[in-house]
Amino acid sequence: MHNLLQGKRGIIFGALDENSIAWKTAERVHQEGGTFVLTNAPAAMRLGNIAALASKTGATVIPADATSVEDLEKLIDQATEILGGKIDFVLHSIGMSVNVRKGNHYTNQNYDFTEKGWNVSAVSFHKLMQVLYKKDAMNAWGSIVALSYMAAQRVFPDYNDMADNKAFLESIARSFGYFFGRDKKVRVNTISQSPTATRAGQGVKGFKGFIAFADKMAPLGNASALDCANYTVAMFSDLTRMVTLQNLLHDGGFSNMGVSQEIMEMFE
Ligand code: NAI
Repeated sequence: MHNLLQGKRGIIFGALDENSIAWKTAERVHQEGGTFVLTNAPAAMRLGNIAALASKTGATVIPADATSVEDLEKLIDQATEILGGKIDFVLHSIGMSVNVRKGNHYTNQNYDFTEKGWNVSAVSFHKLMQVLYKKDAMNAWGSIVALSYMAAQRVFPDYNDMADNKAFLESIARSFGYFFGRDKKVRVNTISQSPTATRAGQGVKGFKGFIAFADKMAPLGNASALDCANYTVAMFSDLTRMVTLQNLLHDGGFSNMGVSQEIMEMFE
């Protein structure tokens, strides 16, 4: 361990269970000396065991629905009070599509579900940043990261409306990142992660197939949740101060591949 986050304070959204990318990130941030508040939707509190993660990492848990500006305002006020000052790092690790959950095909969406999905998966990121910005709750050179997926740029048919939600999310990161950078010297990036076997990931139809395909395409294989946590730690650290407005591909090289030898052999 390198004490990369010694003295830094933050908020981590989206740790549901031990497979969650946010769970691994919380563990790694703790190991690197960072202190933080953990938060998740009130309904999620019943599903996982966030209390175990909190006691292991010395964190306080504050339930908040990331689509509720009121919840976010309370969360930021309480977090700065508990942590004893302004925030240095924030992880938005939140995604959900009701169309995916209900098995609605991309060409047969229920638009109430579509709206709920983009609100949870993308607009919540805008709401979070707007609350942080208005409250002037971030320290200069702080770092805000949200997690994305490459279906924002390329077609993965079963990723459904989450593809559009991720494109929306990445655009918000750039647009808000400009103002956060110019006015507060805070950086905003998205990390576009390999398919990962989590609750959200496994909810996508055909997940087993496309996680195996990505693994065979990428020269380094798929990046794990722990790899993603490590990259996020780097993005929270002072070693990446000038990186902002980026969608950072964290996928073992998958995104620049045309075809790999291993995939070719399956057709020969
Ligand atoms: P996960 O299921 O462990 O985490 C998703 C989290 O979103 C859960 O903790 C859930 O409670 C939270 N959430 C849902 N609605 C919420 C709301 N209204 N307010 C606050 N929190 C809410 O799954 P995972 O994979 O760790 O997901 C984290 C992020 O990583 C998501 O943005 C996901 O799209 C992204 N991602 C995941 C990949 C994968 O294959 N698993 C690949 C690339 C990106």
